[in-house]
Amino acid sequence: MSDTYAVIGNPINHTKSPLIHGLFARATQQAMHYVAIEGPREPADAFAATVREFIAAGGKGMNITAPFKLAAFEMADERSERATLAGAANAFKFDNGRVLAENFDGIGLLRDIEVNLHTPLAGKRVLVLGAGGAARGALLPFLDAGPAQLVIVNSHVEKAQALASQGTPHGPVTACTYDGLARMGRFDLVVNATSASLTGDLPPVPPTVFSPQGTAYELAYGKRLTPFLRLARNAGVAGVADGVGMLVEQAAQAFLWWRGVRPDTQAVIDRLTVPLD
Ligand code: ATR
Repeated sequence: MSDTYAVIGNPINHTKSPLIHGLFARATQQAMHYVAIEGPREPADAFAATVREFIAAGGKGMNITAPFKLAAFEMADERSERATLAGAANAFKFDNGRVLAENFDGIGLLRDIEVNLHTPLAGKRVLVLGAGGAARGALLPFLDAGPAQLVIVNSHVEKAQALASQGTPHGPVTACTYDGLARMGRFDLVVNATSASLTGDLPPVPPTVFSPQGTAYELAYGKRLTPFLRLARNAGVAGVADGVGMLVEQAAQAFLWWRGVRPDTQAVIDRLTVPLD
């Protein structure tokens, strides 16, 4: 009998995870199937109850997406260092009824930037827009990659400052306001980790932060040229990318954790890529 995995979120109808893991399973000849579960938003303990039902039915692992990454972290029996530092989980493995939690979002983003986009971060100036869950997940993997400087900017600057203090033991990270960016010069990599693109909005970032030889990376995917990517393109940035590679790379990390096999990602990225324009 094949092993069962699932992605849980709400809403869940647009998820690409079953397609991605189905392609990985076929390419690596793993006997598994993967389903999508719409998790209940209410009452507060209903998410954990749904996960427990899936375990009781023989489920082996799960991916967790919005809005359950914090609830997933809280219900886990064991948490990796990555999940603990992010304060959120995006993958579970079930081991004799115990719930093991991981977070592969940050490492997936880093792999996409460094391996797929050929942009090593060592010695580079990196700007992260936003200080929510997505930025938190990227903080440690980015600092571990050895940038010359990492700047976090957020409208509510105290959130950026709190994140920067957490990151300080791991590398050179500071917080900034959007107004302050005008004095910060150019960055080699600018990552939009705000949720602004989900509503078609543009964070108030000045075009002076972009470097024409640099990279602009949008965490959202499949939204074509978002206002952020358009701003970067108009500022002359040649390397603009959305988050499709991050999505596939975090899935590959989960697949490796569950099955002990690392699937190739490029063919799956190619299949899911929506041209920017
Ligand atoms: P996620 O898990 O996607 O990171 P989140 O934790 O709700 O979501 O965080 C959203 C981030 O996007 C925050 O940093 C938020 O800024 P504030 O903390 O100042 O609210 C940022 N954000 C959302 N909409 C934005 C916009 N239009 N311009 C700039 N930043 C925005």
